[in-house]
Amino acid sequence: MAAIKPLIAGNWKMNGSRSNISDFAAIASGYNKTDTGKADAMICPPFTLLAALANHPDAGALAVGAQDCHVAQTGAHTGDISPEMITDCSASAVIVGHSERRADHGESNELIAQKAQASWRAGLMAIICIGETEQQRQNGDTLSVVESQLTGSVPQGATAKNTVIAYEPVWAIGTGLTASVEDVAEVHGHIRQLLVSSFGDEGASMRILYGGSVKLGNAAQLMAVDNVNGALVGGASLKPVDFLGILAAI
Ligand code: PGA
Repeated sequence: MAAIKPLIAGNWKMNGSRSNISDFAAIASGYNKTDTGKADAMICPPFTLLAALANHPDAGALAVGAQDCHVAQTGAHTGDISPEMITDCSASAVIVGHSERRADHGESNELIAQKAQASWRAGLMAIICIGETEQQRQNGDTLSVVESQLTGSVPQGATAKNTVIAYEPVWAIGTGLTASVEDVAEVHGHIRQLLVSSFGDEGASMRILYGGSVKLGNAAQLMAVDNVNGALVGGASLKPVDFLGILAAI
């Protein structure tokens, strides 16, 4: 089976204004000077910057994704954005089921699976997030939680092209804490097994990103773990030097 091309995706969350378009340009310029065949790179800005970044003249191979979408194509859903609108902005992907949306907006596995299907309908790649809370880890429930989230939020029809899985332990997000290399290896290995049993060859080549306080100082170590095929980077993606350093660590 061909090697899996890693993906480093930056999640800007609710950060960034027009003054940060220059940060995107700096990331694009740095990334496009590297061998872009080695790793894919993507920035997921807030919706207010989506069209500006996705159509930026210097974007080159740097992809742009959204952070959420509604299930419907159009309609009476004040404040929501459909996958088709994301495609219309020239973005190519969308994060669904981030733990902050699961927590802040009560998003269920069922809804996240519907969002993934809706994103495929619009031709987007879905980055589907899963991960346990600190309490669940302490209770020894990490693998079962990850398994039920994966089974519940990744619909049939997932392929290595239309889907990326992001394992993000909730307790490691924005806290400076990262899972140990052993813990990451265990969870990613479990996710791989589940993906292979559900999706066969597609599951074997689907990317599994690690997320949660990935930074310059730990990226190389985390990216070297078996079945880690890239990273979903929050805080460190806001600084071009850090994000480019993480990309270089692949
Ligand atoms: P962090 O966020 O890198 O700031 O921990 C990761 C994420 O939530 O995607």
